[in-house]
Parts: sequence; C-alpha cells; structure tokens
Amino acid sequence: MRKISIFGATGSIGQSTIDLIRRDREAYDVVALTGGANVALLARDAIELGADIAVTAHEEKLGALRDALGGSGVKAAAGAHALLEAAQMPADWIMSAIVGAAGLAPGLQALKQGTTLALANKESLVTAGPLLMSEAQSHGARILPVDSEHSAVFQALVGEERAEVERVIITASGGPFRTWTHEQLEGATLAQALKHPSWDMGARITIDSASMFNKALELIETHEYFGFSPDQIEVLVHPGSTVHALVGFRDGALMAHLGVPDMRHAIGYALHWPERRDLPVDRLDLAKLGTLHFEAPDPDRFPALRLAREVMEIGGLAGAVFNAAKEAALDAFMAEEIGFLDMARIVEAVMTEMSSDQGLGNAALTIDTVGLADTEARARARAHAARLSRA
Ligand SMILES: NC(=O)c1ccc[n+]([C@@H]2O[C@H](COP(=O)([O-])OP(=O)(O)OC[C@H]3O[C@@H](n4cnc5c(N)ncnc54)[C@H](OP(=O)(O)O)[C@@H]3O)[C@@H](O)[C@H]2O)c1
Repeated sequence: MRKISIFGATGSIGQSTIDLIRRDREAYDVVALTGGANVALLARDAIELGADIAVTAHEEKLGALRDALGGSGVKAAAGAHALLEAAQMPADWIMSAIVGAAGLAPGLQALKQGTTLALANKESLVTAGPLLMSEAQSHGARILPVDSEHSAVFQALVGEERAEVERVIITASGGPFRTWTHEQLEGATLAQALKHPSWDMGARITIDSASMFNKALELIETHEYFGFSPDQIEVLVHPGSTVHALVGFRDGALMAHLGVPDMRHAIGYALHWPERRDLPVDRLDLAKLGTLHFEAPDPDRFPALRLAREVMEIGGLAGAVFNAAKEAALDAFMAEEIGFLDMARIVEAVMTEMSSDQGLGNAALTIDTVGLADTEARARARAHAARLSRA
C-alpha cells in the first residue's frame, strides 16, 4: 500500500484528490490530512479514509476538530508547527494543495524526507522556486506538477530533450472578464469575479483567474519548475480551456495537451506517474467541439502578466513580494474594500517600493528572507488597500 498525505485536503484540489483515493481505497494508506477552517469536512474524510492524523492550520479549531473526530482513533493536531510535523511523517506521495504562501513551509519540510511532492501550490514556486528545487535535489525528492498547464507541459516533454524546446505556450481561459472594457473592469464585483466560465476551483484561484494573476503566477511557475527562460514562455488566451499547454520544438513542431477541464486528470497523472491509469474524467469529443479559439492576452486590461515578467527579470525575492502583495490585495478585494483593478495597482506599487528600497534581485533566498519579504509586502499592500478604500 502506498502511504500518502494530503495538505489542503478540504479544498477543491484536496477533495478531487480524495475522490481519486476513494475509488481505489485498498491501494492507499492515508497518513495525514490537513485543512483550515472546515474541520467538519476534515474530520469526516480523515475518519472515512482511516488517516493517522488530521491537522487544522488554526489552533483555535483544535477543540472542534477533536470533537468531530470523536472516538474514531484519528489523532488531532493544530497550528503551523503541527503542519510541519505532519509533513515529516513518512509518506511515499504528498499532495501540496494548501492555498497561498502558507503552503511553502510544509512543502519544503515534506521534500526533506525525499518523497514525491505533487505540487498544486504554485505559490511555493513563485515565492521560493530555487529554494524548493534545490531542496528537492539535495534530498533526492521529486516534485511533480499538478497545475493543469504544467502537467500538460510535463507530459509533452516525455522522451524529449529540453535543449530542443524552442518555446512553451500556456493557455488561459481569460476568465469571466475576457471581453470586458477597462471601464467595466473598474466596476467588476466580487460576485462577478467568482463566476468562472470553464473551471470549478477554490474562490481565491477563481478570482486570480479573472484578474489573470493566476496566469501570472503560472508564468513564473513555468520558469522556476522547468527552467525555461522568460522569453521562451508565452501565454495564449483560449476560452474553452481544452488545450492546456503546447510545447514548440526547434523543428517547428507544436505538441499540444488537450483534455476536459477537470483537475482529476492532472492530479491522477501525478498520483500514478510514471504509469497512466484509468481516470474518471470525461473524454473530449472534438467533433462536437468543432473549433478551438485562441487570442493574444491584452496587457493593458490585465497588467498581471507584465508584472510577472518583471518578477522573472528581477529574480531573488521579487516573487515573494509579488505573491504576498497579491494575496493581501486579494484579501481586500474579497472583503469588498477595494476595486477589481486596484489589486494590480497595489501589487505594482509594492513591487516598485520594495525593489527600489531593497534591491530584491540581489537578496539571498532563504526561508527567513522569504518570510520577511512576505510580511513586509503584505503590510505595505494592506496600507495601500486601506488608502484606496478610504478614497
Ligand atoms: N482548484 C483548482 O482547480 C486548482 C488548479 C491548479 C492549481 N491550484 C492550486 O492549488 C492550491 C489549492 O487551490 P484550491 O482551489 O484547492 O484552494 P481552496 O479550495 O481554497 O482550498 C485551500 C486549502 O488550503 C487550506 N488552507 C487555507 N488557508 C490555509 C492556511 N493558512 N494554512 C493551511 N491551510 C490552509 C484550506 O482549508 P479550509 O478550506 O478548511 O479553510 C483548504 O484545505 C492553490 O495553490 C491553487 O493555486 C488549484
């Protein structure tokens, strides 16, 4: 039986992972499941899957988690330290699906046991890509991408030489505001941003898709994970979300990965890699689909992509600052304190301030420097948000 743990088990990716595990229950020995506020769901799944331990990130939820686990025999723990301890529990495969920079420390800890880390938490690569990759290398661990675009690139590269790759194209649905004017975007509401046209995902990534910050994170993720230079990586808007990514080779060939928008494909690929197994995802009917539509992204209406390119150019702590400012700006938008376009304004302002004050590109990248940059960027972003909400 394979020992597995799922970090972020109560979220969209976590639940899709559990769906796959449930279908083949006998094959897995579940070690740890972790969640945040939703302790009822965490306890239900931990009991059903016979996990050794259930961990909530929130210390004040420990009592509620204990109550929900009742006399099931599943251990309960809470807090950041408990998450790190859970990441040290031996497992053959660990899903990293906590949302945000909070996923970095448990992911780094998991890599130290030389395991396979299925990485949905793109923020880890954005904030500390070189750290994550070198930690994997020095402990003989493996990181498998779970983001659909990166899983697609990974699959298109099987059997190919990296040196022969000319370019990589990751697709973006364009989100609910793809055709909106700048003026309409200024007034876009939270409810409108939460209506994704093709993917069913957690709330935060859904809004990031509407603003293209999700694609901005993925641009950086592609650069950090595969090591392609920024000018080799392109973004193409593709509203149907059928083609997830394309890899172009030196002979002009373009290898595309197609599939229905269902994260269980990328999760299942990482779960069974290097084999392929049957997965419960719908099959594409291309005749029914008829056509595939593509268009170039608009950098004026969606400045996040331009900011991501600046991050890749600066390097160092720029990713940590970018991600933290984005997370704080997203919090303010979700609290309906600032407008939709204010998110990009805040991220750009924080990046400009911290680049000129601190020379982000030259800073050493350690878990401590990343933590400090993250804290400062969030504080600055919150101050900008407060000013904008009063204006
Ligand atoms: N959803 C997708 O289709 C998709 C696709 C590609 C990549 N991803 C990436 O996968 C990750 C998870 O996305 P998601 O959509 O599954 O998010 P989600 O539905 O919001 O779930 C997030 C998970 O993280 C937990 N969590 C929240 N804050 C936490 C904290 N401070 N510390 C520890 N755990 C915390 C949540 O617990 P509670 O819910 O119990 O509070 C939940 O288990 C993100 O990095 C996202 O970018 C998602």
